[in-house]
Formats: sequence, structure tokens, C-alpha cells
Amino acid sequence: MSERILVVLLLALNCLLVAKGETADEDFTTLRSLISTWKNTPPNWVVSDPCDDWEGIKCKKTRVTSITLSSFGLGGPLSGDIGSLSELEILDLSYNKDFTGPLPQSIGELRKLSTLILVGCNFNGPIPDSIGNLQELLFLSLNSNSFSGPIPPSIGSLSKLYWLDLADNQLEGSIPVSGDDIFGLDNLHHAKHFHLGKNNLSGTIPPQLFSSEMALIHLLLESNKLVGSIPSTLGLVHSLEVVRLDSNSLDGPVPPNINNLTNVRDLYLSNNKLSGPPPNLTGMDALSYLDMSNNSFKPLDFPEWFTNLKSLTTLKMERTQLQGQVPSSLFGLVNLQTVVLKDNKINGTLDVGSSYSRQLRLVDLETNSIDIFKQNEVPGVTIILKDNPICQEIDERAAYCSSYKSNFSYSTPPNNCVPDTCKSGKISSPNCICAYPYTGTLALRSPSFSNLDNNTRYLMLEESLMRYFKSHFVPVDSVSVMLSHQIMDPTQYLKLNLQAFPSGQDHFNRTGTSQIGFMLSNQTFKPPQPDFGPFYFLADKYEHFGNDEGLPESGKHSNIGIIVGAAVGGLVLLVLLLLSGLYAFRQKKRAEKAIGQSNPFRRWDTVDSKSEVPQLKEARMFSFEDLKKCTKSFSQVNDIGSGGFGKVYKATLPNGQVIAIKRAQKESMQGKLEFKAEIELLSRVHHKNLVSLLGFCFDQGEQMLVYEYLQNGSLKDALTGKSGIRLDWIRRLKIALGTARGLAYLHELVNPPIIHRDIKSNNILLDDRLNSKVSDFGLSKSMIDSEKDHVTTQVKGTLGYLDPEYYMSQQLTEKSDVYSFGVLMMELISARKPLERGKYIVKEIRNALDKTKSLYGLHEFIDPAIGLSSTTLIGFDKFVDLVLRCVEESGEERPKMSEVVREIENILKSAGTNPTEESPSISSSYEEVSRGSSSHPYNSNDTFDLSAGSPYPKVDPV
Ligand SMILES: *[C@@H]1O[C@H](CO)[C@@H](O)[C@H](O)[C@H]1NC(C)=O
Ligand SMILES: *[C@@H]1O[C@H](CO)[C@@H](O)[C@H](O)[C@H]1NC(C)=O
Ligand SMILES: *[C@@H]1O[C@H](CO)[C@@H](O)[C@H](O)[C@H]1NC(C)=O
Ligand SMILES: *[C@@H]1O[C@H](CO)[C@@H](O)[C@H](O)[C@H]1NC(C)=O
Repeated sequence: MSERILVVLLLALNCLLVAKGETADEDFTTLRSLISTWKNTPPNWVVSDPCDDWEGIKCKKTRVTSITLSSFGLGGPLSGDIGSLSELEILDLSYNKDFTGPLPQSIGELRKLSTLILVGCNFNGPIPDSIGNLQELLFLSLNSNSFSGPIPPSIGSLSKLYWLDLADNQLEGSIPVSGDDIFGLDNLHHAKHFHLGKNNLSGTIPPQLFSSEMALIHLLLESNKLVGSIPSTLGLVHSLEVVRLDSNSLDGPVPPNINNLTNVRDLYLSNNKLSGPPPNLTGMDALSYLDMSNNSFKPLDFPEWFTNLKSLTTLKMERTQLQGQVPSSLFGLVNLQTVVLKDNKINGTLDVGSSYSRQLRLVDLETNSIDIFKQNEVPGVTIILKDNPICQEIDERAAYCSSYKSNFSYSTPPNNCVPDTCKSGKISSPNCICAYPYTGTLALRSPSFSNLDNNTRYLMLEESLMRYFKSHFVPVDSVSVMLSHQIMDPTQYLKLNLQAFPSGQDHFNRTGTSQIGFMLSNQTFKPPQPDFGPFYFLADKYEHFGNDEGLPESGKHSNIGIIVGAAVGGLVLLVLLLLSGLYAFRQKKRAEKAIGQSNPFRRWDTVDSKSEVPQLKEARMFSFEDLKKCTKSFSQVNDIGSGGFGKVYKATLPNGQVIAIKRAQKESMQGKLEFKAEIELLSRVHHKNLVSLLGFCFDQGEQMLVYEYLQNGSLKDALTGKSGIRLDWIRRLKIALGTARGLAYLHELVNPPIIHRDIKSNNILLDDRLNSKVSDFGLSKSMIDSEKDHVTTQVKGTLGYLDPEYYMSQQLTEKSDVYSFGVLMMELISARKPLERGKYIVKEIRNALDKTKSLYGLHEFIDPAIGLSSTTLIGFDKFVDLVLRCVEESGEERPKMSEVVREIENILKSAGTNPTEESPSISSSYEEVSRGSSSHPYNSNDTFDLSAGSPYPKVDPV
């Protein structure tokens, strides 16, 4: 007997030990540090393993891929450590109203993220522009938070994005559209949803925003501060179904081609300053809900074409200067439910006719000039004629002479049972069981119906919710829907209260609430379409998780242990305690490690308690030991080059990530404060054409910077043939474009702007797809710095690339980078060093230039490796023109980097290449010649010179 128990016990212990520790160390560490700043975390998160036991966390193999913590009642800030969960695909923190603080820049490091949902939290500050790095993102929902600042243009680079919801925040500035190397929402050709309502967006609606390539179905811009006219390009987006432009300050006439939008079901233009005649909407056969109230339209006789809108359910035109008589044929539209034409100059007779719509509920004509009402009464329809001559002159006590009050309400009736009287805050469910329901508001942003008394709709909603819960095994017993008197706010959302009751117990656990929350936040549940239209859901805080769940796992196990242990004897108890003690110790170690890493600057503090902690969230602090280990004590093998700063080492982190470490030589070390300032600067910039800083080391008297490693080396290596990469013309243009984009970002989008000061081919790196990335900001100075010491003490840069104007005046501006860029482009065309044996490439090219000849007479300068024989150099002349402008003597005459970007984009477009398109796979984009092979036409020996005058070794192209 006791033996059997022992076996059972040992098996249990075995499970305990084997099942733990499934999570990869780096993710475990990150999660620990994330939750260390959160409150209300579930009790079992303390000791158990995330991949095994944490509700809301899902893993593939040992890596965390999904975090869905919807309605967990969590709070606190989201720390920058989130960026380390590099395999994360889904992040849903919706309906945790106590999440505050900014969304960290490092969110941009979650390169695999496809779903980001933060609806109904309380995040604030600007939306980080690094969000544009999330190239896999399909679903972005940041609505109902307190985000401020502009919509980052980088969102426009999310080419896969399908859902964009930023509504109900305090976003300001204009709607970004592309241009000048800035992305814009017009690039989002796959997006179906732009939900940007209830913000402080200003400026005009840019005409470029719309094109016929878009797939948009919901365009929601209501309740902002937009001005100007509605662009006629809107008429190109044929896929549109819901258009809300209401409650802005739009003016001018409505573009007549709006009736091109034949799929539009809901059109809201109300509460603007639109002028001209109301638009002729003939042809909009899907139009169901039309609101054009409160505009400055020209007086217009009631238009006949209204009566052709066969799908119309709702017509609202308050205060629009309508005049003349309402044709009775209007009321014959079979789907018509509501007509609100208050505050107009409608006169004559109101005749609803005999064959009016069966669904008609309300005709509100308050404050008009009607003096006869033919029917006097229409069964089932509320007619309002208050403040019309008929009410003043004939009978002001008639029912139709009072103003309209909606007093409709609905709530799900009990399901053939008698509601219970419940205690301690519980509520009786439709099945008359007392429980704590999960509650929230389902807001319909644009329902296609307006008569609220049709209960069929609410029943259909309840049924479809229940069907959905059942099919997804969510433990819901029943749902109830409530509509209390509709509060008319400018948004006109129809808000339904939802209650979901738990099945089998009187409350939900966190798994249950997060399932319901996620299902509604990620919009996989669709209310009966098309009646309900686009919706959002806001859950209330759920406070009834109870005490019977989430007990520490080890607690449960040791309970069993104690019971069994007592039966078996002291020995087994001792073993058990030992083992669980061991386990607890291990977990404690991991947790300590986690906390240590979550605040790397604690260690910084101890280095120098006077220096402030750097203000950065993304860059990790590495210890000297960490980096020593992964470079095999900075061995020769890992040494991949050297620069002004010191040596560069390649290394692999324990998680497999390949990195490049720049280790400062003693001579080039900076002061602590300067080093700190530099890391802060570097970690502020994120762009796909800039090499990203991953971390740094400031330990044991060392200064090191840790960067992403780019496998194809520098542009210089490519041009000299050292890396075995052959660059054709288009590829070179793309490298030029990438470099220019990186610089344009530094100059024009970073605040304060950053001047690179050392643009050269060694500093342009190529990734696995040969995209160029600008590196080495070792000499970079932000404008603020250069303003402080106006006369720069020391001219820095590399001879050959150096801007002569800067050299003379010592006044640094962005235009110095433009000059160096121009030189670099000459190098890119020719594969010649800028300065060699007294020959200066800029001068050489200027002298040889002859615009009357083909290729401007520059044949001898063109790098044969471009493959002249097979490709025509499309746009070569234009490119040379641009490059020459970059190296103008006077900085003022040089173009801005954004202009350079635009020009190169145009050249690429004229060459039939889409400049925004990602390169295809590496194998098709360039020829990889076997490295180091003697048959390679280039030789890495720089001094071996075949063609006189060429700085780089050359032979004829194969
Ligand atoms: C109407 O829509 C179609 C389809 O998108 C488009 O090709 C056409 O140019 C549009 N016409 C006008 C006048 O906007
Ligand atoms: C409205 O447009 C239709 C079709 O384009 C046209 O037949 C009709 O005459 C127009 N009505 C008015 C009042 O302009
Ligand atoms: C109604 O108003 C129109 C335009 O203001 C006017 O021409 C017409 O005579 C009026 N009709 C009646 C019956 O007052
Ligand atoms: C009530 O709504 C349903 C669903 O939209 C519709 O089929 C039905 O005709 C409506 N009934 C009435 C009386 O309006």
C-alpha cells in the first residue's frame, strides 16, 4: 500500500519537475520583468512556468508567441522589455483600464507581430513611429486610449495591414499621406478599415489619401477637426461601404462624383459647413442611412432623386434649407424607417400616402412651414409637426404637435423562468441563475437601421453571440442585451449593454474573460450583417475572479505532498520538501535574474551614482562578461574590422541572434556622460534604413555598442568585390534610395535632427536582401549639440567625402551630409575611391561630363560590374544630374535629402521598378559568386590595379 503511494508521489514529483521550465530563458526573463511593474497579476504567475501554466500566454516550442490578457484587470506601465519577445505574434491587452503610460518604442522590435490590440486601456503619449517596423502587422487596434500627438506616418509602411483603429484618442495633426520619404495611409492598399473618429485630427482630408487601388470598406473620420473640402478622389474608392465624415468643419461643395460610391450603405456628412447644393445621390443604390444635417447647403426644393434610393432606411436632413413639399412617394420606399427633416422650410401639405413603408416609425418635421397634414394620424408612425403653421393655427393639442422623445428601451426577457432575487451583487441571468456576469458596451458605429423597436434584431444578436461562444468553447451560459434610452451624442453610436453569464459556476475565471474579451476586441465575432455595421466593444472591469483559482501550483503540489507524506512517513516528506525547495530556489534565481535585467540602469547607477540613468527603453545593457563570452574573449576569429571607434566583432548571443559589437579603444573612449548621451541618441532613432542599436556595455572600464549584424557587409566590400556581391544598376539605385531614406529620416524626422558627419561606403551596410542601412553614428551630433558650441572645435569626417564648405566655415549643417552622399553616389556609379593618387572623383567627373553625349560621356567612369552589356542604364542621366546637385559648392544649392529620395524614386519608377517594393529573395536579386574563389573577377587586394586610374581592381565583366 505505502509503496504504491510512494510511486504515485514520485510520479507526481516527476511531473512537477519535468513540466516546469518549458519557457526559453530569454522570454521567461522578459515576462518576469514585464509583470514586475504590473498590478493585479494572477497569483499563480509567481511560481509557475509561463508556457505551461500562465493563463493568456501561448508558446510554440519554448517561445512565447501569443499574449492575450484581455479583461484581466491588470494595470501599470508596459515596459520597453516587451521588445525582447522576438517571436510574439499576438499581443492583446484590451480592457485593462489601469494600463497607463506610453507605448514603448521597442514595440517596433516585435517583427513577427501580426495582431496588436490595446483597445480600452489607458495608454497615453504619442504612438511610437517604430510601429512602422511591424511589417507583419495585420490588425492594429489602439482605440479608446489616451494617445496624443500625430498619427505616425510610418503606419503607412505596414503593407499587410487590414485593420487600423485609432479612434477615440486625442490624436492631433493631419492625416499622413506619403511624399518626401514619408509614408502615409494612402499606401495601405490592403486596409479595409480606417477608424480614426473621435480624435483631434486637423488639416484637410488630403486628396492623395484615396485611390482606386484601395480596398477600404469603412472610412470613419467623424468627430475630428478636419477642414477644407471633401476631395473628389473619394469617389475612386469603390469598395467603400461606410463613410463617416460628420462632426468636422468641412466646407465647400460635396464632390458630385460621390454617387460613384455605389456600395456605400451609410453616409454621414452632418455637422459640417458644406456649401453648394446638396449632392445628387442618384445611383447609390445600396444607400441605407443618410445624414446630411446641419450644413450650409444652398436652398433646394425637395429633390425627386431621394425617392429613387431604394435601400433607404433613414433620411436625416435637419437644418439644410430644404424647401417645397415632401413628395408622398418618399414614404413609399419599402425599407424606410425614419425621416428627420427638422428646421427646414418645407411647406404645403404633408401626405404620407396610403402605401407607406411597413417599417416607418418616425417622421419628424419640427420647425417647418407645413400647414396641412392630410392623414391627421398614421397608425404605427410618430409624426412630429411642432412649430409648423398647422400646430399654431389649427390644433396645438394634437399628438403630432409635441416634440419627439425617444423613450424606447429593451432588455432580454427571462427564458421561461422567474428571475431570482440575488444576493451579494449577483445578477439574475436570462436563465434565472444568480451569477456575476461579464459586462461591457457594444457600440455600433453605424447601424443601417434606425427604428429601435424591432426586437428581432436584439434576439438575433443574442443568438449569434451564443452560437459563437458555444462553437469556441467559451463557458457562457447565456447573454443579455440591454438598450436604455438612447443618449444622442454627436457620434450617434448606438450603444448596447452586454452581459455574458458564466456557465456552471457563479463567476468567470481569467481564461473565460480573456476569451470573451479577445473575441470582441479582435473582431472575429461579427454581429448579424449588414444591419449592425462596424462596432467596437468596451468591457467593464471584471472584479469577481474569486479565490478558488490561480493558487500557486507548488502550493497545490505541496498540499498533496503533505497529505501523502503524512501517510507514508517523514522520509518522503523530506524528499518532497527538498525537491520543492530546490524548485523554488531555481524559480527564485530566474526571477532575480529577470529583475536584474529589467532595470539594467541599476547597474549603471552603481557605476557612477552621479550620472543619470540614460533615458532609453530599447537598448539592453550587456555585461562585459556577456560580450566576452560570446566573442570568445574578443578573439581574432570574431574580429571583422575596425573603424574610428575601435574594433568590430561579430558574435552570436545565446538566443541565436547575430550581433556586431563595436569596442572602443582606450584612446577613443568618451566620457561617461558623452557615452550616455550617445546611447540615448542612438536608441531614439528607428528606421529600416538605419542599422539598429541593440544594446551597449559600460562595464569594467569598457565602452561597447551592440548592433544588429548585417550579413552582406559594407557597400565598400560590395563595390570592391570583396564580398562577392554583384550590383546591377537597379540594385545600385535601390541602395542609393535606401541610404537617402535613412539620411532623410535623420535630418527631417528625428527631433532634434541628427547630422551623420561621416557618410562613406564603409558606413553603408547591406542586409540579406541587399537593402542598405546607414551605420556608424559614432561621429553623429544632434543639432542641439552643434548649436551649443556653434563654432565646432574640430572638423570630423573622412577625406574625400568631406564637404569643402563645412571644412572652411566649420559650420555643420545637414547639407554637409548631402555633399558626402553625392560623393558616395559617384563612388557607387564608378566603384572608384573618392580620392586617390591626387585625383578627386568630383572634379574628375565634372571635367569629363559632356551632356551632349550618351551617358553624359562618362563611359570610362562606369563600373563595368554594373553589367553594361546586358542592361541599359535607365535614368542614368537624371541620376548624374541629381548627384551633381548634391556636390554643389554652396550648401544652399544642394537638395534636401527628402528631395533626393523623391528624385531617386522617380528614376526607379521610370525604370519600371516599384521603389516601395521589397526586394525579392536574395538569390534572384543578385548573383552570388563563390567567395574567395580564384575565378572571381575581383580580388580583395586593394593595391592590385589592372586598369590605370581605377582605385579598385578591375577586369572586364564576365
Ligand atoms: C468611379 O469609380 C471607378 C471605379 O473605382 C473609377 O474607375 C472611376 O474613375 C470613378 N469615376 C469618378 C468620376 O470618380
Ligand atoms: C441627378 O442625377 C441623375 C443621374 O445622374 C439625373 O438623371 C438627374 O437629372 C439628376 N437630378 C438633378 C436634380 O440634378
Ligand atoms: C412653398 O415654397 C416654395 C419655395 O419657397 C414656393 O415656391 C411655393 O409656392 C410654396 N408653396 C406653398 C404651398 O406655400
Ligand atoms: C425587424 O428586423 C428584421 C431583421 O432586420 C427584419 O427582417 C424584419 O422585417 C423587421 N421587422 C419589422 C416589422 O420591421
